[in-house]
Amino acid sequence: MKISVIGAGYVGLTTAACLAEIGHSVCCADNDEAKLNMLRRAQMPFFEPHLEEMVSRNYRAGRLQFEAPDSTVTGAEVVFICVGTPPLENGEADLSAVAKVARTIAEHTTGYCLVIEKSTVPVQTGQQLKRQLQLYSQKGLRCDVVSNPEFLREGSAIQDFFHPDRIVIGVEREEVATQLREIYRPILEQTFTCPVHSECTHAQKPAWIVTDTNSAELIKHASNSFLAMKISFINMVADLCEAVGADVTKVALGMGMDPRIGAAFLKPGIGFGGFCFPKDVQAFVRIASKAGCDFSLLKEVENINKRRIERLVEKVRQELWVIRGRKIAVFGLAFKPNTDDVRFAPAIELIRALVRDGAKVSAYDPQATEKARTVLPDIQYCSSPYEAAQEAEAIIITTEWEEFRKLDWDELKKLVTRPLVVDGRNMFQPGEMTCRGFHYISTGRQPESSTDNGVSITPPQELHAVLK
Ligand code: UGA
Repeated sequence: MKISVIGAGYVGLTTAACLAEIGHSVCCADNDEAKLNMLRRAQMPFFEPHLEEMVSRNYRAGRLQFEAPDSTVTGAEVVFICVGTPPLENGEADLSAVAKVARTIAEHTTGYCLVIEKSTVPVQTGQQLKRQLQLYSQKGLRCDVVSNPEFLREGSAIQDFFHPDRIVIGVEREEVATQLREIYRPILEQTFTCPVHSECTHAQKPAWIVTDTNSAELIKHASNSFLAMKISFINMVADLCEAVGADVTKVALGMGMDPRIGAAFLKPGIGFGGFCFPKDVQAFVRIASKAGCDFSLLKEVENINKRRIERLVEKVRQELWVIRGRKIAVFGLAFKPNTDDVRFAPAIELIRALVRDGAKVSAYDPQATEKARTVLPDIQYCSSPYEAAQEAEAIIITTEWEEFRKLDWDELKKLVTRPLVVDGRNMFQPGEMTCRGFHYISTGRQPESSTDNGVSITPPQELHAVLK
């Protein structure tokens, strides 16, 4: 099938490359001509595992092209809209890029076009989109608008695209769902060879969920907001654990075994970041408020998240007494591992707070240094964690990169002025770090717990029998 994808950001480029990989002929468009040229040379505008080789392979095979939006949509029959919807000052999503694409499609497309909205948008955008397409149509365009929200996580976007839990389609006519089914057939039936994991060939088939467009749009915002709520919830439980002498890891484990709760997204720490959760929670609050619903629950989710940075700074302050003039090493700049994305990254906010307090910050990240430099030009960037730790009075862990698990702590101990580790991601066991000679402060756990492994889990069937 011939498919156009408008937007070559995280969602658009991943979607375009993955659709090409499963056999479609894809043209990916972007307004930024320099970016298109980079992509034609297989240079990625951001880091995402496996994306570079997939883009380059499909481009060489002629299944993936990069063009300007006008020529991409001319005569197109299927268009995925994957442009950005950044937050406005008031928290609402800025839909100007979506509106611009609608106009481009309306002006350049003749005959029938299936317009698929993948960007995260407020409920009722699909309906607006349809109106705009008809309004600006110059060549007798007939179209259907579908909402097909994405659930890709940065850092594992390719894996998520090929092996989703569910594919959600919001349509106004049943027949349109059949067209979408055809596009996604290899993924729905898991009949392709997964290019990133050979062991995924027998992966589970995803659920196929067909709704109306409004409901599909809400599924996306409600899902992200719910996950953000889980994180803020466990962060409050972590604070309570610190206050009463409990261990949040064990509490989360015990809670997560209830399938109604689920174990995922119960990792406490420095809070959620990235270009999705913070803006989507804000936008969802605004959407609800415009519809006359006061979603105050989500406002609190946001407030709790904002307080995570100050809470971590306070822990550092309590140990160092005075922050001004002290050298502090920060391990991790990206908002999460396996990405170079620093948008709304907790690490960036934390560094800003430390610098405001007068700290001298030396930072290390395996991927995100260049992007961080553009927003924080005045701190010291290092080429290794060891360089960052030299003469530091505290090491703060802000991103749980796998590389940090393999650090030589004996070596780090020799380099630092003071062996203090404040872990915003609970990467290590308190007892283990104490044995290595560090004063270790994490989230929701006691500093020098003697019962690191003191949780005993009976296999679920036996547990069930015991409870009976
Ligand atoms: C999120 C969703 O997980 C995707 O399903 C969705 O498609 C995407 O937003 C989007 O809307 O485009 P992403 O922002 O890439 O994906 O990252 P997540 O893995 O969800 O993590 C978000 C933030 O929450 C990170 O800062 C992470 O460190 C934090 N987090 C996550 C926690 O603090 N604790 C947890 O238990 C899990």
